[in-house]
Amino acid sequence: MKSARIVSAGHYVPERVVTNFDLEKMMETSDEWIRERTGIVERHWVKEGETVSGLAFEASKIALERAGLTAQDIDFIVFATMMSDYEFPGGGCFLQERLEIPGVPALDVRNQCSGFIYGLSVADQFIKTGMYKTILLVGSEIQSTSLDLTTRGRDMAVLFGDGAGAVVIVADDDQKRGVLTTHLHADGKYSKKLWAEWPSVVHHPRLTPEMLETDRIYPQMEGRYVFKHAVTRFPEVIHEALDAAGVTIGEVDLVIPHQANLRITEAVAQRLGIGMDKMYSNIQKYGNTTAATIPICLSEAWAEGRIKDGDLLALAAFGSGFTWASALVRW
Ligand SMILES: CC(C)(COP(=O)(O)OP(=O)(O)OC[C@H]1O[C@@H](n2cnc3c(N)ncnc32)[C@H](O)[C@@H]1OP(=O)(O)O)[C@@H](O)C(=O)NCCC(=O)NCCS
Repeated sequence: MKSARIVSAGHYVPERVVTNFDLEKMMETSDEWIRERTGIVERHWVKEGETVSGLAFEASKIALERAGLTAQDIDFIVFATMMSDYEFPGGGCFLQERLEIPGVPALDVRNQCSGFIYGLSVADQFIKTGMYKTILLVGSEIQSTSLDLTTRGRDMAVLFGDGAGAVVIVADDDQKRGVLTTHLHADGKYSKKLWAEWPSVVHHPRLTPEMLETDRIYPQMEGRYVFKHAVTRFPEVIHEALDAAGVTIGEVDLVIPHQANLRITEAVAQRLGIGMDKMYSNIQKYGNTTAATIPICLSEAWAEGRIKDGDLLALAAFGSGFTWASALVRW
């Protein structure tokens, strides 16, 4: 059986930087509040006209170049995103068009902050069965255009950023490298703890002028509730992966958690009994970029030399659904 090996990663964020001080001008918030509660200093937001598939394309080009491959080498696209460019079709099709590889299948994975690890698990299964040999897995997200940028929406608005990350995954004969194990979970009874209600198919039309007057067209979250679940689920699902692979946390070179809040990452490190030097963190620069977060981290950590050949990585995510997931990867 083949192993799914990540051979490269790339990322791209929009040029526009929005600092906490910029947000102070839009709503009643402060740099101090945002830094203390979340660790975030700035994030990147798109300009009018930029698209989810456009960000994904830029990240994919870098990942392909670093892998020494071209788009023509790809035989499957897995596109993790909450949002497509338009209501439908999925972002994977728009990305495939830009890559100019007609006929190559494109699968959208819609699992919010856990989307990249869900996508990694899907890619892993397709490689293992021998169906595909070279998979482009992308996480790309535009959150900024969905946020309520008034004081009413400040709890959500300060958290999220836009960006994309991509990895190239190839079939490899070395069973000891690549994706060692993946673990996926969901519990839909918590769907409404972090969700966006409108526009909705239950209404005809799906969006009315009256709806636009309410906060129900914006993402809603019970922040403390989400926080409490996250700090429990992250260590739990990482331990599940460690047990499945028969390794200890001490053997892991770097934990790459989904970047939702620096306080969550610190609490997870404490519960795992490891120092923050073993937890990758770049939330300060990007905020929470949902499905794009983990591939952006992989790309940056690899470029910085924090990930070296043969390193053991633990990836973990938690988010809306609730969904949560983990993976162990030998780089
Ligand atoms: C959102 C989050 C940072 C809020 O931090 P918190 O310490 O729980 O703060 P609370 O929600 O209890 O709010 C405390 C106060 O700050 C206020 N506040 C909320 N957002 C604010 C902002 N951006 N700026 C200033 N004040 C803000 C609240 O209105 C509240 O005021 P009150 O005490 O007068 O009612 C935190 O709950 C969190 O990170 N949750 C998880 C988020 C997450 O991970 N989401 C994505 C999952 S993938």
